[in-house]
Amino acid sequence: MFVTLYTDKSQVTLTYDIGERPQIIYWGKRLRNTPENQLAHLGQRQYARGAAYEDIQPSLSNELGAGIYGSTGLLAHRAGKDWATSLEVTDVRQHSEQSLTINCYDPRAKIEAVYNIEIDIDTHVIVATTRLKNIGNSPLYLDWCTALSMPLDNRFTRLKSYMGRWSDEFRTQDIPNFRGGYIRENKIGRTGHDGVPALLALADGTTECCGDAVGFHLGWSGNNRVRVDRTIDARSFVHMGEYFFPGEIIIDPGQTYQSPPLYAAWSEQGLNGVSQSFHHHVMHSVLDGRIKDKARPVHYNTWEAVYFDITEDKLISLAEAAAEVGAERFVLDDGWFGGRRCQEKGLGDWYVSEEVLPNGLQPLVDKVRSLGMEFGIWFEPEMVNPDSELYRNHPDWILNAPGVEQVPFRYQVALDLTKPEVVEYLFECMSAVIGKYQVDYVKWDMNRDIHHPGSDGHAATHKQTLALYALMRRLRETYPNLEIESCASGGARADYGVLANTDRIWTSDSNDALDRQTIQRGASYFFPLPIMGAHVGPRNCHITGRELTMDFRAGTAIFGHMGIEADLSKESEEDRHILGNAVDLYKQHRELLHSGKFYRLDTVSYLNAVGVVSNTGNEALFSCAMVDGHPDILPVRLQLTGLLPERQFRLRLVWPKNPNSITQPSPLDHNDLLGEGRVFSGEALMNYGIQLPLMFPLTCLIYHLKEEI
Ligand code: DGJ
Repeated sequence: MFVTLYTDKSQVTLTYDIGERPQIIYWGKRLRNTPENQLAHLGQRQYARGAAYEDIQPSLSNELGAGIYGSTGLLAHRAGKDWATSLEVTDVRQHSEQSLTINCYDPRAKIEAVYNIEIDIDTHVIVATTRLKNIGNSPLYLDWCTALSMPLDNRFTRLKSYMGRWSDEFRTQDIPNFRGGYIRENKIGRTGHDGVPALLALADGTTECCGDAVGFHLGWSGNNRVRVDRTIDARSFVHMGEYFFPGEIIIDPGQTYQSPPLYAAWSEQGLNGVSQSFHHHVMHSVLDGRIKDKARPVHYNTWEAVYFDITEDKLISLAEAAAEVGAERFVLDDGWFGGRRCQEKGLGDWYVSEEVLPNGLQPLVDKVRSLGMEFGIWFEPEMVNPDSELYRNHPDWILNAPGVEQVPFRYQVALDLTKPEVVEYLFECMSAVIGKYQVDYVKWDMNRDIHHPGSDGHAATHKQTLALYALMRRLRETYPNLEIESCASGGARADYGVLANTDRIWTSDSNDALDRQTIQRGASYFFPLPIMGAHVGPRNCHITGRELTMDFRAGTAIFGHMGIEADLSKESEEDRHILGNAVDLYKQHRELLHSGKFYRLDTVSYLNAVGVVSNTGNEALFSCAMVDGHPDILPVRLQLTGLLPERQFRLRLVWPKNPNSITQPSPLDHNDLLGEGRVFSGEALMNYGIQLPLMFPLTCLIYHLKEEI
């Protein structure tokens, strides 16, 4: 029997029989003229010498009982027995054309499995989970359970995955065709600087703008494993799931385990098509919708301006300077509480420090509000410095492995959120501040890897991650307008699991705009601009030492959720003026930037070009950053994408306001792009392209296109 889920563009077809293992036989473009049995006939295989007499069929978990080659999606046993699991269909329910539940049972291992598969009608994104129930009467040890064994069509020969480090997140790496397995394991208790649990696969010839591509993302912020296997029987599977420490998940009789969701998107329109599906899905289905229609306010964050050197006067002058350039939200970062005068002390003591703020927070909050800004504040709830009152009072509240030394990491250790009293303490402390000052926004930080995530001797990352989500949810339920930013030493906790409970990610601690060009491009494969924190940092970047113009810094921050993170009193008057202009430009176009379709352009390596086209196609903004020198005397023409070919657009250059082409007249002058602009067809802009002016490297040009009717 067959069952198919579909949207107008995409379809997934499964085959099943009661008492047999179910199987996905097709996922891809919607096939409108193809009865499902044709797919089964086309996919028929044969006996191969040196192999089993009958083709070994995959299933939804590629269980060991099936004898499948390559990686399995399920490792479960009863103290070493009953490991050859085989989940056979007992019931299939199609709730709608887009939603399906398959119930399976392993009569020998006594495991029930419920597979939930949905395909989103608007975004075509598949969301799948697996829930296991122990029907036996002894504990079931679970070592691995993926959301789904997801077949990867054999046209997808190349992979693109993430790497990176602190202050250089979301770097991508391309993996050419391979045999065997490609595996990323993450066991540090957060998604990590190098490890968004996500992956893209491309057909030969696929680019950003065209060709077949698929993407996968695990909605989980804890430990995870991502693997792709190409096996000897010419099949490929993607497996994504939680990484468990030994004995971490033992399902007692009658109890269940639910995998995190796997999100999968498919497109014929290159990697941009995959990203657009994910972006739309994040905005409409992953985020909880509390700020769906709210314009993302321009942030001012205090961290790089003052670090721990806080006084009321300083903060007030930062707020005044921020408001002057147009900031709309003031976020007080680390250092306002307990004995936290440096990173060695005070973490966990969540009360306003009288030492730094003798009048409390109220004067600052009042000032911020009187300047027309929202008020946000930093917490790092899951952590404690051993040099703190909290730790002195509750040394037993931390995650650890008994007898094993903690790995030293930023002078802090992780609290055990699986203990209700710890969560209660955190909720009370945070509530006291959020409630009293009507805090609009919490920057929720998490600054260490967790190497020994033990609670009462048992590994507990799974429970810790669920407890974290529950605490975030509880705060958001208590304060329905509260927004939360997920930060972990920059972008080390960026995934759809945390985004279901937060509103923004802090993309990176590097505010170096040159780094940011790559970081933000990398993040954009899975994360949409409205949730991607992008700040204008100081002229001399604190992390790289690079000196960058305000034009370049500000232009780079416009393509994201814009903010500022610098001591503005140290910026020249001229640079503050330029910044104010950039903030105005962001405000003028943020609706377009945050609601349109996002594109990365295929172009030469010395350019980073991205753009957003409005959903009706009548307006667009394209950013083109010269991230390096060019080998020829002039830079290339830039071919845009995503425009309606038959429409006419007025093209103007809106950033920088005073671009200095190295020689004049430049194409900007020729076409009056800084003035009235000139009208071009969509097809000319996409097929022929815009000749770029001769500029110094590290220039960020932003072109605006408006349909001329
Ligand atoms: C790490 C974050 O990424 C920074 O933005 C800042 O909030 C510091 N922590 C504060 O300790």
